[in-house]
Parts: sequence; C-alpha cells; structure tokens
Amino acid sequence: SIVRLHGRRVWDSRGRPTVEAEVTLACGAVGRAIAPAGASTGSGEALDLRDGGAPFGGLDVTKALAAINVAIAQALAGMDAADQAAVDARLVALDGTPNRSRLGGNAIVATSMAVLHAAAAAAGAPLWRHLAGGRPVRMPLPEIQIFGGGAHAARRVDVQDFMIMCPAAASFSEAIEWSAEVYRAAGALMKRAGKLQGVADEGGYWPAFDSNEEALDTLVQAISDAGLRPGRDAGISLDIAASEFGRGGRYTLALDQRTLDSEQMIAMLGGWLDAYPILSIEDPLAEDDPAGFRHFTQTYGARCQIIGDDFLVTNAERVAAAAAAGSANAVLVKPNQAGTVTEAHAALLAGKAAGFGTIVSARSGESEDVTIAHLAVGWDAGQLKVGSFARSERMAKWNEVLRIEEALGGAAAFSGWSALPFRER
Ligand code: PGA
Ligand code: ZN
Repeated sequence: SIVRLHGRRVWDSRGRPTVEAEVTLACGAVGRAIAPAGASTGSGEALDLRDGGAPFGGLDVTKALAAINVAIAQALAGMDAADQAAVDARLVALDGTPNRSRLGGNAIVATSMAVLHAAAAAAGAPLWRHLAGGRPVRMPLPEIQIFGGGAHAARRVDVQDFMIMCPAAASFSEAIEWSAEVYRAAGALMKRAGKLQGVADEGGYWPAFDSNEEALDTLVQAISDAGLRPGRDAGISLDIAASEFGRGGRYTLALDQRTLDSEQMIAMLGGWLDAYPILSIEDPLAEDDPAGFRHFTQTYGARCQIIGDDFLVTNAERVAAAAAAGSANAVLVKPNQAGTVTEAHAALLAGKAAGFGTIVSARSGESEDVTIAHLAVGWDAGQLKVGSFARSERMAKWNEVLRIEEALGGAAAFSGWSALPFRER
C-alpha cells in the first residue's frame, strides 16, 4: 500500500519547471514519473496548474507540488498501488473539476504514472510486462520527426510535424536504423542548401523553407538519399495541428499568406496525398471542425491514417463518437491530455474497439521519463510518436524500446503495416 508521496520540481526539455511525483509503498518499492507539457494543446485537455506571476514566465509549479504533497498524499495514503483504476478514480474525484484545474493535470498525471511504476516495481516486473500481463504485444511502429514546424518552430512553416514511418522494416530496430539514415540525409540536404539552422522543440531540423511543399519535396529526397524507396520502405506522416491556425472553418496559412475554408483545406491536403507518399495525417482540420474531419475521413480514410489529437484529446467518449460518425480512423494517446493512466488506456481501448490506429505520444515538452515507451509496448498500441531523432528527451524513449525489444528477443514481433488502419496501398 502507498505510504509516501512526494512531489518535487524538476525541469523539462524547454527549461521550464515541471512536476515529478515519487511514490513509496509499504514493501519499499518506489515509483517515479515526470509530467510532460504540450505547446499546441487542445482546448479539451486536462489543464496544467501553473503559478502565474513573474518567476519563470509564470510557469512555476509550486501549487501543483503542494497539491501532491498535501491533498493527494492524504487521499492516496494506504491505497493499493496495484489497483490503478481505484487510485485514478480517487484522483479524479478529489480534483472534482472536468479539466483538472484544481489540483492540476500535471500533478495528477505525474502521480498516476508514479503509482503505476511503483506497482510494477512491487511486482518485480518491467513496466511493459506488468501492463501486458501475459497478453501478446508488438513492438510499435515509430513515427519520427525530420522537420519541426508550427508552434514548435515559431510558425516558420504551417505544418507542425514532418515525420517518416518505416512500416516495411523487419523490426523496430531496423525501422530506427532506416529513420536514422533519413534524419542524417535530411541534415546533409539542409546543409548543402545553406538551410541548416539548428533544430526545433522536438529535435527535428528547423524548417528554413519557403513553402510546406518544399519541406515535403526535401523529405522525399532525404528518403531516397538514404537508399530507401519513398512510399514503400518509408512513408511520410504529417501532423498539421490545424487547430493552431484554424478556427470557425477558416484556416490562415502564414507561409502562403492566404486563408482557406474547410473545403479548400481538404482540397490542399488531398493534393498532397496525391503528390506525395503520405501514410498518415494528424489533425488535418481544427478541433472545432468535426464536419471537415468527417468529410476528410470519408474521402481519404481508405488510403491514409487520419489521427485525432486536439480533436479527440485522449478521451474515450470522443473516440467512440468519432468512430460512429466516421470522422477519424486513428487516435493519439497522450496520458497528460487525458489526466490519468486509466483514462488514457480507456481512450486507447475505445480506439482499438473501433478498429482505429492507436498511437502513444510524447509532448513537445518532455524529460528523461520513459513511461510512454512502456505504455506503447505494454498496451500493444502498435505505434509510438516521440518527436525526432535528436535530443536525449526523445532518444531516451527510442532507446528504452530498443532495450524492451532485446528483452523480448525472438518474441519481439514488429507491428509494421498492421498498425495502420487502412488497407489500400
Ligand atoms: P504538443 O505537440 O505536445 O505541443 O501539443 C504534440 C502534438 O501536437 O502531437
Ligand atoms: Zn498533434
């Protein structure tokens, strides 16, 4: 049972304060987890509690830490860490708000994940195995950013993530090797073109491009330069993060200096789908445009993964509603968007029940915490999105999955194409 809970301030990959929770059980087992933080957040997300005021740009977390050290510590004292659902239900009830604004989504998700780690430690199992509980798991298909953009690169280009996926690789480690070659090739291309300007928030190259299409062309070239066949060995995955520049059915593209309506936005993305080897598109339209999502999915869902991130905010009811309406065919699963481990898992299970692709995802503000690597394997999500192939808050996750793959040995089946929710190729 839980005997001690401690919240401490640590720092994330953007140098901002964040919350670490540490749980100690009566048996001596300890679990620890750090809350991540988004930059392009959906309006339906659990809210991080930040102090406001002058220090650290108002982003300090002393109130969230106090919530852990007093109210949450009291509420969880004596509870069984192995009963994650009961712990999470108590956290939700104690907060009492729909968006976790009282105790803070950051305090709650760090505590929830720390309890999960403590339970695995008490059981003497690595977290992924503790979660799998004997069920078969697959190594996830990695979605790896090559160029950053949008809110992660001062809106230098409109699209937030230009990523690649290597579903034809034979294993997770081979997909990582291929992605590493593409990342190198893209860097060399940028250097030759005099466009190498460092990296964006998630480690992808800073997008010194004059158009979104120039980024797409460069990505295809980088895949070829890496000795891979575009669309066969490696395909493109985009996170449009359209809620960042779209509202009320109007989409304002900074690069092209034009405003599109929902239908024009769909036509532009459809043109990209015809011209480039794109396997996946996340948030093609804004969170307030369900009709646009539905139209896009009806038109392109048979040949492309269409992911709801800001649109579905890791919420099981929203996933079920989107499945019923046919307005997406995949769901991004971010524990801190849902609030607790149990709610994030419920969203993933709702996705699986609907035949959706399910992608466990990091945030743009991360740390050395590798919980999501274990969730992706232990929950058999099939896909994992962590950002790019640089900066150790990203590499920590890829490296952790490599360790899990090694531990599984011959039993480490790779999800590959089976992770994607469409059949036309
Ligand atoms: P965020 O971006 O963590 O800044 O929200 C990640 C994403 O949009 O997928
Ligand atoms: Zn997103």
